[in-house]
Amino acid sequence: MNTFPLEPIEKASVDELRALQLKRLQSTLAHAYAHSPVYRAKFDAAGVQPGQCTSLDALAQFPFTTKADLRGSYPFGMFAVPRAQCVRIHASSGTTGKPTVVGYTRNDIDTWATVVARSFRASGARPGDMLHNSYGYGLFTGGLGAHYGAEKLGLTVVPFGGGQTERQVQLIQDFQPSIITVTPSYMLAIADELERQGIDPRSTSLRVGIFGAEPWTNDMRKAIEARMGIDAVDIYGLSEVIGPGVACECVETKDGPTIWEDHFYPEIIDPESGAVLPDGALGELVLTSLTKEALPIIRYRTRDLTRLLPGSARTMRRMEKITGRSDDMMIVRGVNVFPSQIEELILKRPELSAHYLCILRKDGPLDALTVAVELRSGLAPTDAHAQAAARQLAHDIKTYVGSSASIELRAAGGIERSMGKAKRVLDLRGAIK
Ligand code: DLL
Repeated sequence: MNTFPLEPIEKASVDELRALQLKRLQSTLAHAYAHSPVYRAKFDAAGVQPGQCTSLDALAQFPFTTKADLRGSYPFGMFAVPRAQCVRIHASSGTTGKPTVVGYTRNDIDTWATVVARSFRASGARPGDMLHNSYGYGLFTGGLGAHYGAEKLGLTVVPFGGGQTERQVQLIQDFQPSIITVTPSYMLAIADELERQGIDPRSTSLRVGIFGAEPWTNDMRKAIEARMGIDAVDIYGLSEVIGPGVACECVETKDGPTIWEDHFYPEIIDPESGAVLPDGALGELVLTSLTKEALPIIRYRTRDLTRLLPGSARTMRRMEKITGRSDDMMIVRGVNVFPSQIEELILKRPELSAHYLCILRKDGPLDALTVAVELRSGLAPTDAHAQAAARQLAHDIKTYVGSSASIELRAAGGIERSMGKAKRVLDLRGAIK
């Protein structure tokens, strides 16, 4: 790995970092209170004033922000600058109701590009490398977020976006990029397409894949690395906080994303009580922006479940690879089940591929979980090998997850491919039979 200078703050001591965080936190709280009527009303209702935040721990007195707050002030009501000072708007579609709208000043765009450039550098990208960007462009933050960061680092960006898998493969073959950034599930679709065209996925010019926007397990990392012959690195972010680049793994350790703590302050809370938990405890990640102007975000409840870990490759803290979102959790006859638990067990069986879907139905009054999973190419659902793998998977799910599941084997190509975030759960329990 060639060396490349880190930004000074990436090498700062923990004390220096905490001092900077407190200063920035205080000015963020003051800015939000002074300029966003929504924050002012929330702080007043909770009986807190920005001046009361005299330590980082004092942040716990301030109210949380949720998606509902953003939706309730749709589209621009939470902005803390006049809309005319925003140079960009993004929005997340969401499954129900109004989209969540976020805005950026020119400085915010520069901050975002800085943290994405830092993320890509931590992943092993270096100025002059070519990056194939398969995150969707448009209102989704993935495409443009990655794009601006890549340009800032000095990469040559191929702004492909999602879809047209055959052409993605053609350009990867023709342009010879060394880095790809895409959702892990779509990386698998690209790998399938390479194979379909008779190209060994390990033979491409790609060296590093920077994957995020959806949960993926360490077993999925191993599977992608082995199949593509690349380093697979985890990048995390969410539009409400800025977009991709809130945190990213360092390629030399691959031990969970380092949170860029000079711009985002993390807390872990008990999702039930809202109490702040100590570092190391598993809970819901709550993030506060420290430098954003247009849409300061105070104690945003991400719904993502993880724990805070000490720094390794950097002084800044890491988050454990996300196991799931509280929204993704399936409750099957009272047992909590995350798609990531199913994914781990699927990837232990060489007969099965990483394309899967958890389907929930009602069987009379009871929940019934079906795991539809694709076989490796060459195997048919009727093959004895395949059926043995299905029996073993059902057994493993019962043993390790604690839920009964029926397994529906599908031939290669039988699970719909996503061009972006994969859909892992189809809940038909409310549907008319
Ligand atoms: O997905 C931003 C992004 C784009 C991140 C590209 C990384 C790469 P949203 O559409 O607002 O933003 O979705 C945010 O996606 O709360 C997590 O539940 C999930 N997510 C994002 N990155 C990861 C990751 C973008 N690395 C939501 N691991 C978040 C697990 C992730 N989940």
